[in-house]
Amino acid sequence: MIMGNGNPAPALGNGEKIQDGLPGDGKLNQPTPMASPGWHQVEEAKPTMEDFTAEDWTLLSRQKKDFYSEHQAEQALGFLRTQEHVESFGYQVNNYRHCLQSATMAYRDGCDEELVVCTLFHDVGYLISPDNHGEFAATLLANYISNKNYWLLKHHQYFLDVHARNHPDLDTAELEKFRGHPFFEHTAEWVRRYDQNSIQSSYDTAPLEFFEPMVKKLFSRPSKGKILNS
Ligand SMILES: [Fe+2]
Ligand SMILES: [Fe+2]
Repeated sequence: MIMGNGNPAPALGNGEKIQDGLPGDGKLNQPTPMASPGWHQVEEAKPTMEDFTAEDWTLLSRQKKDFYSEHQAEQALGFLRTQEHVESFGYQVNNYRHCLQSATMAYRDGCDEELVVCTLFHDVGYLISPDNHGEFAATLLANYISNKNYWLLKHHQYFLDVHARNHPDLDTAELEKFRGHPFFEHTAEWVRRYDQNSIQSSYDTAPLEFFEPMVKKLFSRPSKGKILNS
């Protein structure tokens, strides 16, 4: 496939506004501030990655490691936090409080920290990717959790149907395809105990701050590396 109608790749930046009618983002000639005062940026004089030297890549790898250990958990928490004041479309509580309530139930019930954190994030993608939100959460945590909990997150949305017996479009055919899977019962029990019931305004729910240390601990585990899950 030819991109850009076969034209040459976009010109490299030269600090000038390109007069093509597009609005500017207001950041021309303003590098993003560094995360730490002692760190270094790859020079502007190397405008493409092909120009980077081995030393540049070493520098980036070193700073990236520290950057991620500080920011990764906070990014995940921040994404959940953006949903705090989103209105409900019908449930007594919004998606944010459902996530907190579900995690609170799992914690009170004695689940280990990994499952509590999985529970906290199980619906984090529900507002932007409702039909695939299980996969969204599974991918978010994939590098740091067991295969069992990864499977739970990815497939949990199919198990809710069991509890929606009066839903007019109830369809458990998809779920039945998974019956017999080694993680089926684990997921079914989790949905029964902490998901289908965590929709109550009257349940005493812990705040996000309570779960933050657990989230930070999980994201500080060694990553399983790049995974393409089919
Ligand atoms: Fe869900
Ligand atoms: Fe849920």
